[in-house]
Amino acid sequence: MASIREILHFYAEAGVDAALSDLPVDRFAAEPPPARPAPEPREMAARPPSQPREMRAERAPAPAPTPASTLNKASVPDDAKIAMARQLAAGAATLEELHEQLAAFDGCNLKFTAKNLVFADGNPQAAIMFVGEAPGREEDLEGKPFIGRSGQLLDRMFAAIGLDRQSVYIANTIPWRPPGNRTPTPLETEICRPFFERQVELVNPKLLVALGGPAAKALTSSTEGILRLRGNWKQHLTASGQQIPVMPTLHPAYLLRNPAQKRFAWRDFVNVKLRLKALTD
Ligand code: URA
Repeated sequence: MASIREILHFYAEAGVDAALSDLPVDRFAAEPPPARPAPEPREMAARPPSQPREMRAERAPAPAPTPASTLNKASVPDDAKIAMARQLAAGAATLEELHEQLAAFDGCNLKFTAKNLVFADGNPQAAIMFVGEAPGREEDLEGKPFIGRSGQLLDRMFAAIGLDRQSVYIANTIPWRPPGNRTPTPLETEICRPFFERQVELVNPKLLVALGGPAAKALTSSTEGILRLRGNWKQHLTASGQQIPVMPTLHPAYLLRNPAQKRFAWRDFVNVKLRLKALTD
């Protein structure tokens, strides 16, 4: 029979390493007031006559704008969270400001199950930006993208084309680790999208490399699978209307599971190297 240690090890390997649910629960939130019993007919009669409907509408207080730090309340509609994300991201004039806005933003539930915000690594002045999907366990613990096993493979792929972490910029479409490495939901993706798009716009690289299907989808809006997309240059359109070439390629985590596919990623990286050289020489 497996020991507790072996079972825990199995869970950790499978990504089950946090006793959390997918959605945060605010246990400090005030209990809703108990429902008031319907008034007795006598009580109703004792009240002053009710005001006309129009007057009551006039007196109703205007709804307060939703501050970024209370967006995690279940009562805040999803649209308000997306709208606030757009507003904050658009208002960030620098990457530092964007980082601060994102750190203060409470509209994405992933923030409450993650240990750290994983904003970026590398050189913000780099001519080339690599984009993954979402941080994993090691990235969450350190607050840096691509530092686990797939990151180590990515470092070797960089080296193969003469790059390293000082000559590239690396980020993810989602900056918080989804619990147990599950796939981010469409809503989480939509809420994080404005921040990610603004990050690309502020880095303003000459080339983008999408690592895996979700990053390729976020950058090119293509619905094709990554095995069809990879190896073909696409365009990313920024909010200000600029077009940046994107090379979709295979995610390093996929390559670790399917080493025979590395030859395709190698071709894509050589392609990237040639285009980067042409753009920067
Ligand atoms: N996979 C990703 O897509 N991003 C990371 O940062 C790590 C693993």
